[in-house]
Amino acid sequence: MATRLTKQTLNKNLMHNKIKKIQIISLAIFIAALLFLLLFLLINRTSKQDVPSKSAEQNGKLILGFSQIGSESAWRTRNTQSIFEAAAENDIQIIFDDAQQKQENQLKAIRSFIVYQVDVIAFVPIVEDGWDNVLTEAKEAGIPVILVDRQINADPSLYAGFLGEDGLEEGRRAARFLLNKCRNRTGKISIYEMSGTENSSVVRDRAKGFREVIATDSKFQIIHSEDGDFLRSRGKEIAENLINSSHRKDGLYFEGQKIDAVYSHNDSMTLGMLDSIENYNVYTGNTIIISVDAEQKSIDALQAGKLNCVVECNPNLGPMLMELVKQIAEGNPIPRVTYNNETMFTENDDFSTYEPRGY
Ligand code: AHR
Repeated sequence: MATRLTKQTLNKNLMHNKIKKIQIISLAIFIAALLFLLLFLLINRTSKQDVPSKSAEQNGKLILGFSQIGSESAWRTRNTQSIFEAAAENDIQIIFDDAQQKQENQLKAIRSFIVYQVDVIAFVPIVEDGWDNVLTEAKEAGIPVILVDRQINADPSLYAGFLGEDGLEEGRRAARFLLNKCRNRTGKISIYEMSGTENSSVVRDRAKGFREVIATDSKFQIIHSEDGDFLRSRGKEIAENLINSSHRKDGLYFEGQKIDAVYSHNDSMTLGMLDSIENYNVYTGNTIIISVDAEQKSIDALQAGKLNCVVECNPNLGPMLMELVKQIAEGNPIPRVTYNNETMFTENDDFSTYEPRGY
């Protein structure tokens, strides 16, 4: 009997100990969870403070969310610099995003600007289509949007205005130079076009303006148009392919036809083409080469006789953009379209009057 009692007491004690153990473990788990929760809240609070929010960071400054497409050319780099310099001069804070040439990155950036509740959004649309949804979101959030450098296909009520170049006029200028240069020539003038990023407004306009003018004389014919994506590497590759497939050194040829004129939509591609022409030692003294942008290196090439004409596309949009940002933030309307001043440089100029380009 005594033994049974002792056994029962022993079992009871064991049970009691087990329950106690479970209670201690539960308490430990509870305390650990509590500590984890506290730590999470602390970290979350810190990272939220790192994100620019209108109330925390504004300090009376206007906040501009700016989405740039990338840094595919010296032109683009100068364009970004100009915007940063002008923002600093005007005491405007920029939240910047480099989209690395991807529209999806631009869409993400614009959505993050909306979350941050910036005062104004400005962006360079890499292509024309696909902006309606994100711009509707910006509109619903009450944030005005300014298009910079390139235009879009969308309901105009989704953005306040456009600031940039007149691409149509750039194309027309290039063609007028060609028409004038060839005014005394008879017979067909074969033109090879190197165009920039597909589906971008600037390519559409530069192509359209150029065609509009050459259409006035049937001797001008575009024999081929190749997408060079505004890249120096592509310009180099395109010229290399032409040279390798023609096996000729007395000029550039496309499918057996001598190229009389090259119309390149930007300097990066043109300089790439000149790289290959030099590497393969091809004679292009009779080939009319026309480029767009007017960065220093292409002006140098013009002066060295390697190019015939460079149409300026002015990247210095910063000061005008900041004026528009201030106007719009004060609730004033801005013009639907603001063009920057642009000129052109040709082989007929007095080069001694040229100022350094700065890009
Ligand atoms: O949209 C402007 C064009 O984009 C410039 O001509 C070119 O150099 C740039 O990359």
